[in-house]
Amino acid sequence: MKEEKNTQPKIMEKLVSLAKRRGFIFPGSEIYGGLANTWDYGPLGVELKNNIKNNWWDHFVHRRDDIYGVDAAILMNTKVWDASGHLDKFSDPMIDCRDCKERFAADKLVDRVYKEQKGEEIVSTGWPDEKIQNLIEELKIKCPNCKNSDWTPIRYFNLMFKTYQGVIEDESTIVYLRPETAQGIFVNFRNVLNSTRVRLPFGIAQIGKAFRNEITPGNFTYRTREFEQMEIEYFLRKEDVEKQFKEWKKEMTNWILSLGLKKKNLRWRQHEDSELSHYSTKTFDLEYRFPFGWGELFGFAYRTDFDLKNHMEYSGKDMRYTDPEKGNKFIPHVIEPSFGVERPLLAILIDAYCEEEVRGEKRVVLRLSPKMAPIKIAVFPLVRTDSALAKIAREIFKNLGQKFVCKYDALGSIGRRYRRHDEVGTPFAITCDSDTIKDNTVTVRDRDTMEQERVNIEDLEGYFVSNLL
Ligand code: GAP
Repeated sequence: MKEEKNTQPKIMEKLVSLAKRRGFIFPGSEIYGGLANTWDYGPLGVELKNNIKNNWWDHFVHRRDDIYGVDAAILMNTKVWDASGHLDKFSDPMIDCRDCKERFAADKLVDRVYKEQKGEEIVSTGWPDEKIQNLIEELKIKCPNCKNSDWTPIRYFNLMFKTYQGVIEDESTIVYLRPETAQGIFVNFRNVLNSTRVRLPFGIAQIGKAFRNEITPGNFTYRTREFEQMEIEYFLRKEDVEKQFKEWKKEMTNWILSLGLKKKNLRWRQHEDSELSHYSTKTFDLEYRFPFGWGELFGFAYRTDFDLKNHMEYSGKDMRYTDPEKGNKFIPHVIEPSFGVERPLLAILIDAYCEEEVRGEKRVVLRLSPKMAPIKIAVFPLVRTDSALAKIAREIFKNLGQKFVCKYDALGSIGRRYRRHDEVGTPFAITCDSDTIKDNTVTVRDRDTMEQERVNIEDLEGYFVSNLL
């Protein structure tokens, strides 16, 4: 059995095609010609997304006694964005091509062309405009769209989506779609503290949508304007930051490894000072080796007491914590493990994708970890027309379905059904055949080894409890 790894070229094209064909990810608004860089998650995509989110919630909220969940509104009082600095500082440098009018994120364009020309990676985010502008001239950067090089000077573009609340559209009714879920946590700091009586250190977690009007979205679902975040604001004493920072870096790595990603495709990278967000004094990115290069999977920032201090100043509400022993009041510091949902989902698909040659035929298999597989067990009657077999298979599907996500599938030859489920990463397939009627056993086929064994129907639940959970 020859195996090709996912470093092969064109893996992104193959994945985009598989994702659409098999119901993971569809282009958004497709029947109307689409809406650029929007994606809809199909029957299998939504299962995979939920597996990631549920696993995260279980790992970081349910299994810890120091983290509490919230689900805050997406639309927030505009003063929140004033206090958080997003109105003023959450912007990207852009340049326009004067010829074709296409717009680009200046820093990302410079980084890409620099790597193409010099073979080295740079991160120009946060560099002074003049330095980026000089590099555009030095590298003779052409517009990727029309190939001319008549650029406007750098200008700044706020990434928040603006809309209006209610029927009147004027300055007083402006609201923004949140660009990070974090602020919904900060504004509820007092509520969580008062309702739980929790003590430092503790975290507040949230999963939800965030929106950024990115100048250059792309690379399939890697950079989009609408995405989901899973964020934790971990409140602590300033003197505990160093120790907790180290522990949380390990925690973040362990969690993503537990979903089956390969260690060799992960690395931590510390932000240059020029790259730091306005609220952070130290940030690390956990990066994944995407086929288009290393890219941020998760971010981890030390936000100091920046957010709570500003909310206290702008709202006039006391955001301090009272030390239960000493009675003194202070504003806690915050470290922020921040996870996207779509990027790990994409990384999981890339890591799992495999093409093999089996007995002269190509087999595409998604080697997803059982935790992540959208369907855990496929149940087949060998022949669809045999009503006795179909009845047994349906009964197995019904029983196992109470514990595992199963799929009853009777369409096409058995070989085709195996291939179909290999391609979507289903770890096990059960086939009911003529022996089933005689001895109450079925074949259980393992996706990865393709080996089959006979298991008594009564033992199936126990078999999958030990092999799937
Ligand atoms: N509250 C901190 C914060 O938002 P971030 O590094 O800007 O930090 C955190 O975002 C995570 O959200 C990223 O690591 C990534 O997984 C995800 N993310 C950010 N922008 C994204 C985009 N445009 N498309 C998809 N995911 C994105």
